[in-house]
Amino acid sequence: MLKSLSVSDVDFIYGYMILKSYFFKIKTNIENSDYPNSEYVRRWREFCNRTDFESLLRKAFDLISTPPSSDCLNLFDCLDRSSYFALIHKEHPNITLGFIKDADLWDLWLREGIFRVAREKTAEMLSLSNGDKVVDFGCGSSSPLFYGEIVGPNGLYSGIDFSKPLLNLARIRVRENHLDWVNLRQEYVDTRLIFKRRYDYVICSSILQYADVGAVLRNAIEALGGNGVIVIFSEVFSDLEPEKAELFELYYSLIPQFKRFPSVTEILNYLSQFCEYRYKLLDKNFLKIEVLDVI
Ligand SMILES: C[S@@+](CC[C@H](N)C(=O)[O-])C[C@H]1O[C@@H](n2cnc3c(N)ncnc32)[C@H](O)[C@@H]1O
Repeated sequence: MLKSLSVSDVDFIYGYMILKSYFFKIKTNIENSDYPNSEYVRRWREFCNRTDFESLLRKAFDLISTPPSSDCLNLFDCLDRSSYFALIHKEHPNITLGFIKDADLWDLWLREGIFRVAREKTAEMLSLSNGDKVVDFGCGSSSPLFYGEIVGPNGLYSGIDFSKPLLNLARIRVRENHLDWVNLRQEYVDTRLIFKRRYDYVICSSILQYADVGAVLRNAIEALGGNGVIVIFSEVFSDLEPEKAELFELYYSLIPQFKRFPSVTEILNYLSQFCEYRYKLLDKNFLKIEVLDVI
């Protein structure tokens, strides 16, 4: 039985980050003090002006009353710590959130927490098994071994990521476990990709906030070659939970590649241009799209 990701983990994290933002506001006196990175100060001030902290804190205590199902806070502690350094400079060396520069840290975070639970839930949702053909957009360092073991020698797993150091870590694990059917490509998933093979499933787990959503979906349809299933996991969809997206964006904007959290509406609008599809929203974090035909 899988844990409910949305309730026990992402919501817990949201409550935790509300508390962190409250302490940040008090410790930095952000509304009345100036710091060298005026752009980041401006964004925090706007957030504080719009926010009724009293009611948000009540919500936070409610959200953290259910403990998380996994060790999921390390990335968020780093985001919080980095937010203080970002007041000095947006590229302060103590901001350790780069997918290339800080790949060793990302590797630790990707093994656990929301990323691991999302992986397990995706595999269960798709009933992934031996022989399936999967392409994973923004695969990182942990997913190739996880999905490679499930699809087995009769299947195919291709992981695509722009970060060479994260792919190198994945390569070591794949080689050590003799998963010859796992293939890793260093590319941007929002540039035009060529697929020699057709896949049954496309996985987009925690990637759309770092990429051009339309370009990624176009590649996904191409990889499926007409029909198949796309699973999208996002920490938050901005139209479903705008208040949560607003707070998360203040912190995630410290990750160099971050653009903005996707909305379900924009994803469906793009898909309507490319294909016929059916979709299902699972919990608040997963979108399962069955592609029926290309237009
Ligand atoms: C938060 S991690 C998620 C990794 C993996 N999907 C998982 O759930 O474990 C985001 C990944 O996307 C990659 N990434 C970010 N922007 C990308 C882009 N435009 N093209 C390819 N990879 C990208 C990063 O290098 C990183 O490995």
